Amino acid sequence: MSFVQISDTHFIQGGGELYETNPALRLRDGVAMINEDYKSLDFVLATGDLAHYGEKDAYIRLKAELDELEIPCYLMMGNHDSRTPFREIFPDMPAMEGGFYQYALESGNMRILCLDSLNDVPGDHIGRLCEARLRWLDEEIRKTPLDKKLVIANHHPPFDLGLPAMDAIKLRDSEALWEVLSNRKPDLMLFGHVHRPISGAWKGIPFHIQRGFNHQVALSFEEDLSIPFCEEYPDIAIVRNVGDSLIVYTRSVGGEFRHFPSGAENKQPEFSIP
Ligand SMILES: [Fe+2]
Ligand SMILES: [Fe+2]
Repeated sequence: MSFVQISDTHFIQGGGELYETNPALRLRDGVAMINEDYKSLDFVLATGDLAHYGEKDAYIRLKAELDELEIPCYLMMGNHDSRTPFREIFPDMPAMEGGFYQYALESGNMRILCLDSLNDVPGDHIGRLCEARLRWLDEEIRKTPLDKKLVIANHHPPFDLGLPAMDAIKLRDSEALWEVLSNRKPDLMLFGHVHRPISGAWKGIPFHIQRGFNHQVALSFEEDLSIPFCEEYPDIAIVRNVGDSLIVYTRSVGGEFRHFPSGAENKQPEFSIP
């Protein structure tokens, strides 16, 4: 009835660190947490930028970490990925005609349509959804029973977030996407790419953007087009169907976070209201 979202693992060739953090070690902590506490969930969905430079060795290293997961894992493309080496290492990942990694997943009452917004132009980080990918989406939306919750996952958000450096590399085919979605608005959209947890609504569609697993983007509203990176704990999100609602929970990964019960024995320090 529920699944885990992670995003932007940015694995690199040869292991080691990227921006002074180690993508494999960071993900290892997340895999351990999922195996420990969430192995009853249906699957993990990684919303793109699996590798930083898209090399085969980066995908081999990613596979080694994900092989430890006790639940299935589905992988999506981001602007840093490369389909050919990815396909070699993950030959069983579902793909549509034309080799785009677009597929439908089921979790309880949710039908999740995963899109592939990788624009295969080296060095260009914008997202694209061509006619073939949008046609696939349109057909899959029509196939989704009306009593199912419709969730759409894509790496690039299709709208401005008020973060100029990230807005410059959003999905370019926003209007064409909206044309498809206006026939049936999804109940929820999930994104990666921005490396920051952000939620809100686009044209009345609720969305969740998942924090980057290795490095993060600082929350800065400066009109500067160079991306302001920062270091924060990564987190996992869990998307769950509760009653008639879809709920997105997040939980930090890494470090030592205490769990403690509420009650008189854990009384907070005294304070008085003046
Ligand atoms: Fe990323
Ligand atoms: Fe990205």
